[in-house]
Amino acid sequence: MMGVNFVESELERLKETGLYRKLRRVDGDQGSTLLLDGREVINFSSNNYLGLANHPALGEAAKAAIDRYGCGSGASRLISGNMTLHEELESKIAEFKGTEAALVFNSGFQLNTGVVSTLVGEGDAVFSDALNHASIVDGCRLSRAKVAVYGHLDMNHLEGELKRSSSARRKLIVTESLFSMDGDEAPLADIVGLAQRHGAMVMVDEAHATGVYEPNGAGLIAKLGLGEGVFVQMGTLGKALGGFGAYIAGSKALRDLLINRCRSFIFTTSLPPAVMAMTIAAIGLVEREPERRQALRGNSAALRGGLASLGYVMGGSRSQILPLIVGDAQRCMKLSQRLLDRGVFAQGIRPPTVPPGTSRLRITLMATHTQPQLAQALEIFKAAKD
Ligand SMILES: Cc1ncc(COP(=O)(O)O)c(C=O)c1O
Repeated sequence: MMGVNFVESELERLKETGLYRKLRRVDGDQGSTLLLDGREVINFSSNNYLGLANHPALGEAAKAAIDRYGCGSGASRLISGNMTLHEELESKIAEFKGTEAALVFNSGFQLNTGVVSTLVGEGDAVFSDALNHASIVDGCRLSRAKVAVYGHLDMNHLEGELKRSSSARRKLIVTESLFSMDGDEAPLADIVGLAQRHGAMVMVDEAHATGVYEPNGAGLIAKLGLGEGVFVQMGTLGKALGGFGAYIAGSKALRDLLINRCRSFIFTTSLPPAVMAMTIAAIGLVEREPERRQALRGNSAALRGGLASLGYVMGGSRSQILPLIVGDAQRCMKLSQRLLDRGVFAQGIRPPTVPPGTSRLRITLMATHTQPQLAQALEIFKAAKD
């Protein structure tokens, strides 16, 4: 076919530079072990942090919702797809996050692209941490606002950019709270302080923080008591909450604006009722079973300590996400393969997901990893080391 030669050459280039990716197949459920391409391996590559993705209570809630409401939602929310369970889940999320209102989106990616580009546009400025997720980056690009990328967690740099954009019509600072690839935390109190001094809105992505922080699992904003200073709290339903989709939590006016103006909310079929029901069940479990996040913290500390004593380098993470930095993409994938050959699945993460020269194994813990699994994994990490 004419004009498609670039496909083969692009694939070749990816292979030569160690950046080629392929899909792996999982049979069975998303447990602390996985049946990966037909082999059982210890799973350190899942965001199912609390073990809810395969919890029977979520399955039962989903089945009951299908019996009562059917499978599909049939339309977008603004047409006929706004079902009882969408509103029930939104009330539950608002209560969980301690906000006036909440709004559910079909995915975190859709949410970030849509919400950022609804809040700011031409003549505005958006300030984005250099390590923010691709969906935030794309939301910034889509918005047509002036984009100021500040160094990761660098508050002096952020302040300088805020001063430089003092004449912008609207200003939005956007950051993850617990960073997905590094497992470190944004200095949210400082960000809220800077926003107040410079008249900026704050949007915080709690994709990896939802479900894991004390006191109630609502996220890092709740832990720090910063809800009042954050205009948009977002999180995903597909990670610690074990389902699929995403939410914003904030004021009723924000919810209303997004219902009216946010294209990635408006122009898409709404999530099926089963997904809503399983998420309501998941939030109930997060609230009633703090032992899940305690187990997650314990497992994370145990593996972090064990890996450090083997000489692995992990940056500043104190969370369930351990970035085991290798640097070179090819070396990183070789280490990942040596581990896999011995029974540990720790996915290598390369550019463009992370900056060049920082390829890493992104190791994620689950509340459901057992002590024998962690001990066995450490033996394997020891054997696979360069
Ligand atoms: C920080 C962050 N924000 C947003 C997303 C997108 O969420 P979703 O998977 O629901 O599209 C992800 C990952 O998937 C993420 O890590």
